[in-house]
Formats: sequence, C-alpha cells, structure tokens
Amino acid sequence: MDLVEIEQKLKAAVKDSEFLKKEGEVASYIPELENVDKDNFGMALTTVKGQTLAFGDEKIKFSIQSISKVINLIMALEDFGPEKVFSKVGTEATAYKFNSLIPIDEKVVNPFINAGAITTASLIKGGDVEERFNRVLAKVRELSGSEDVIFLEEVYNSEMKTTDRNRSIAYYLKSKEIIEGDSEEILDLYVRNCSIGLNVRQLSEIGGVLANGGRSLKDGRQLIDKNVVKTTLSLMSTCGMYEESGRYSIEVGFPSKSGVGGAIIGIVPGKCGVCTYSPRLDKFGNSVRGKKVLAEISETLNLNMF
Ligand code: DON
Repeated sequence: MDLVEIEQKLKAAVKDSEFLKKEGEVASYIPELENVDKDNFGMALTTVKGQTLAFGDEKIKFSIQSISKVINLIMALEDFGPEKVFSKVGTEATAYKFNSLIPIDEKVVNPFINAGAITTASLIKGGDVEERFNRVLAKVRELSGSEDVIFLEEVYNSEMKTTDRNRSIAYYLKSKEIIEGDSEEILDLYVRNCSIGLNVRQLSEIGGVLANGGRSLKDGRQLIDKNVVKTTLSLMSTCGMYEESGRYSIEVGFPSKSGVGGAIIGIVPGKCGVCTYSPRLDKFGNSVRGKKVLAEISETLNLNMF
C-alpha cells in the first residue's frame, strides 16, 4: 500500500464523518467514562511493514474497555490451549447485550461478551491478581512496542464501584463451575484489564502485529502463536461488534473489536492494523463516528476481506 494514498484516504474519511460529531452518547454506566471531551476524534493505521500514520487526537489515552477482551483471549489461549478455553467459552455470535447473563449455559456463548471475557480472564496464569495483571501489561507493552502503557485508576475505581452486573456474572459463572478460583479476584482482573490506557497509535500497532500473523513489526519475532492469531481474528470478525457484528461485517468487512471507551481496533490480515477513537456510541456500545470512518476506508483503500 502506498503511504501517500493511504494518508489522503484517511483524511478524506475523517472529514466525511464530521457530520456525525454530535451523534450518539458517551457511556455513562461507568461514571468516569463521562469525563472525556465527547467530540474527540483520533485515528491511526499501522502497516505490516511497521509504518504508522496518525491523525487528530492521537495522543489522548483512553481506557481500552472491551478491546481488552482480545488480550484476555490471546493470553488464555496461550496459557491453556484451545481445548480448555473452548470448553468454557463457545465460538458463536449472540443477539444479547454484551453484559447479559442469558447467553451462559454449560459455557458462555463467546469470549467477547462480558461473561466470556471474565471467563478468559480466569484463564490468565499468575499467582495473584497483581502478578496476572502485570503479565497482561507486559503483553500489551510487547505488542504495542511501547513502554508507555498506563493503568487508569479513576476509571478502574469508578467501574469497581458500579459493576454489580459483572459481579453477578462472575458469581454466576463460579456457581456453574465455568470459572474456578475467587470470583472477586477474577472480576478485579477483568476490570483492571478494561482500565488499561492506550492511544490510537498504540492500538493500531497491536493491530499491525495481529495483521502480521503475530510477528513483531520491528524484528519479525513471533509474539503471538500463529494459530492463536487466526482463532482470535475469526472470532473478532463474527462476534467483535456485539449484536451489530453481522451488519458491521457487511459494511466494513474486517475483524474488529470495540470498547465503550469509544475505540475500535480493526485488523486487515497481511495489510494493516487500524484504530479509531471517538467516544460517542450507538445503542450497541460501538463508536458511531469510528464505524463510519472504518466503513469508508474499507471501501476507498480496498480493505474489505470479502
Ligand atoms: O464490563 C464492562 O461493561 C466494560 N468494562 C466493558 C464493556 C465494553 O467495552 C463493551 N463495548 N463496547
């Protein structure tokens, strides 16, 4: 891909999405998430050759929220293997909301709803929460090629105070023997992972590594097992955007994952990783402007995989 052309198309997409600047609502069920400039917009794209282009509010760090579900899944698969992981979480999409308890039967329907990510968090190895979370931070630092990965303590505290729903999910999962160990500790790790602070550039670098089959963009080292990458991208493509995953796949056509902080990460295998940040969300919890920009560049840069 020619960088000059990419830059032009990205800028055009950002401009064409300006009319959506005031569309959608910022998530308020985690009170701290309202403490942002609602009109912020940032975007970055990283090619598998390791070149990054970034625009707008590219330096602002936001909580990655559900994008951490991708990291949880990768780490659970690396730590315990697919057989164990998929005995606890399934691989199918659901029309229920991301925080629903309904799609929990003998297993959780998929790893990208809250119940699924609480389950994969329980499969991240480590002695205590501190050690497990430090492993997660180390993984995010390695994948983003950046040491400047932060923990947004206010966001974490704000969610821990209000997260009755996730707390119920964790206890319910324990009662069904889907998770083992202490429900409070697993919930704690899950919420910490959601409160990791990154900017669009760092997330697009992570996307670049996934687009590169799990190999480092700097030295080609295998940072994530190849099969783990394939599984993760398949699931992102079918379940990454919640109840909108099917529609989104038609309109954008590459594996993506959203977070209620307002970011969307997208991966175009063999080509690039991309990330948008715009905190106003639709009713499913996906960034309104982010989706529009990704749909446009999918078309103009020919990124649709289908
Ligand atoms: O558990 C929650 O509800 C949040 N910490 C994360 C949810 C989320 O990001 C859903 N995404 N669009």
